[in-house]
Amino acid sequence: MGKLYGLIGHPIAHSMSPMMHNGEFKELGLSHHYQAFDLSPEQLEDGVEAMKMLDIQGFNVTIPHKVAIIPLLDEVEQEALDIGAVNTVYKQDGKYIGTNTDGKGYLLSLLTLLQENDLENKKVLVIGAGGAARAVAVSIARAGVLSLSLANRTLEKAENLSSVCNSYTSANAITLQEAEAELHHFDVVINTTSIGMSPHLDRMPLSVERLNEGTVVSDLIYNPLETKWLKLSKQKGAVTDNGISMFVEQGALAFEKWTGITPDRQRMRNAVLKELGGYSC
Ligand code: ATR
Repeated sequence: MGKLYGLIGHPIAHSMSPMMHNGEFKELGLSHHYQAFDLSPEQLEDGVEAMKMLDIQGFNVTIPHKVAIIPLLDEVEQEALDIGAVNTVYKQDGKYIGTNTDGKGYLLSLLTLLQENDLENKKVLVIGAGGAARAVAVSIARAGVLSLSLANRTLEKAENLSSVCNSYTSANAITLQEAEAELHHFDVVINTTSIGMSPHLDRMPLSVERLNEGTVVSDLIYNPLETKWLKLSKQKGAVTDNGISMFVEQGALAFEKWTGITPDRQRMRNAVLKELGGYSC
């Protein structure tokens, strides 16, 4: 019999997750269903109780509930606690357990961009210190790198994140100006801010003037598929990637956690690109 999975958030109408998961269920001949539930912050507590009563086997959590859901769950994995946010809940032995596949999803997509699987020798720069940055930075720190620098407009937030990451790897907080001046020292540079997202297509998180050829540059934005910052980075000889890879990978990891089945990531990616109106990234 088909099982029920879901997504809670607010607003939720534009999420691509239902299309991605239901499409994959169908392709694999599974009669499961993934349903989006729009819950306001006031409805969260009752909403999570309702998910449990309905025996939902797993669900994703998106803005604005990723932090507020933590005390409502039976258990939360350490990585999600370090990140300070849950994006996926799965059911195990009758318990609802929170995890975070955003950071792991980013990490897996990053590994495909590296020539050799030598993340531990890389100097990594993360721009931003919000929710997305926390997921990416904590997962990279837990994997272990040569150095992890966190640059943010509000330095204090980068310092807080750096202290969490320092338990796992050598991390430090720097200003955006310092990051710009030292850009040539990094092997991997990741933009986690919304700077450059549609409709502000002309904005960039940092100048790429000092970027070295061969640096891996990724932007978590996928609207547009190629931000001005990614385009200029590519022109400077960087290896670039947009936020589609992380989006697909976080979904694929949740799918695996819930069903025990490995989904077809390329098919999921194509479905997302089709939804976004282009195959060009
Ligand atoms: P998300 O959950 O998507 O990461 P967020 O938690 O609101 O969103 O974080 C947004 C990040 O983008 C923050 O690091 C923010 O910097 P501040 O901590 O200083 O607010 C950064 N950001 C957003 N707009 C920015 C701008 N115009 N210039 C510099 N940084 C910006």
